[in-house]
Amino acid sequence: MSRRKIIAGNWKMNKTPSEAKALAELLKPLVDNPDVDVVYCVPAIDLLPVAEVIKGTNVMLGAENVSDQDAGAYTGEISADMLVDAGVKFVIIGHSERRQYYREDDAFLNQKVLKALEKGLTPILCCGETLEQREAGVTLDWIRLQLKSDLQGVTKEQAASMVIAYEPIWAIGTGKTATSDQAEEVCGAIRKLIAEIYDTDTAEKIRIQYGGSMKPSNCRELLAKPDIDGGLIGGAALKADFADIVNYNK
Ligand code: 13P
Repeated sequence: MSRRKIIAGNWKMNKTPSEAKALAELLKPLVDNPDVDVVYCVPAIDLLPVAEVIKGTNVMLGAENVSDQDAGAYTGEISADMLVDAGVKFVIIGHSERRQYYREDDAFLNQKVLKALEKGLTPILCCGETLEQREAGVTLDWIRLQLKSDLQGVTKEQAASMVIAYEPIWAIGTGKTATSDQAEEVCGAIRKLIAEIYDTDTAEKIRIQYGGSMKPSNCRELLAKPDIDGGLIGGAALKADFADIVNYNK
């Protein structure tokens, strides 16, 4: 079966509301590829202004975080219901920056995945190894541990609808991209793992992105790989380069 490619920008902690609006306006005429799902994952405060700009286009809205709780006394948190009401469809969960700087562990991320799915958001669940882990040859074992815990209690129907982003930490924001063979090896192994946890049908349906210094010059080779169904793009998502990636097949 052929999976629809999904190209998502992760704007991280960049762009004030007015800058976010300007970036979405700049990209608007450029990101027009009917063959691809396009998502902007933007800071919470930028969701509403960006939603306004992308209205009527094929671009979908994503958040960068979601609370594991429904509602109530959780100062500073943003609930899945709030995101859904703002028009959000996707949410990044388990990015290495949240794992590392905010100490989000797999048990906690699992709660966020379950909450997002319960409320109708599609998680973009991130996983990936450090350089030390890659050099020690434990990349696949590590990712297996991450995904097995993050997906606890997720049904196969839910899993089939999800997106997994393989992001080797050593390739994030460093300009060092995994080679297309390295990326394909891990994305293929993730698909095998999904088949093992669920079944081959689920593994065929789930979409797996590569993320880590993806840019116009390397995206075609990466996106040509059979198990790479898209990209999660940081730095290059903040400029017109993002449109070149979205239009990779033109
Ligand atoms: P860069 O594209 O800047 O390396 O960031 C990748 C990333 O972390 C996307 O989530």
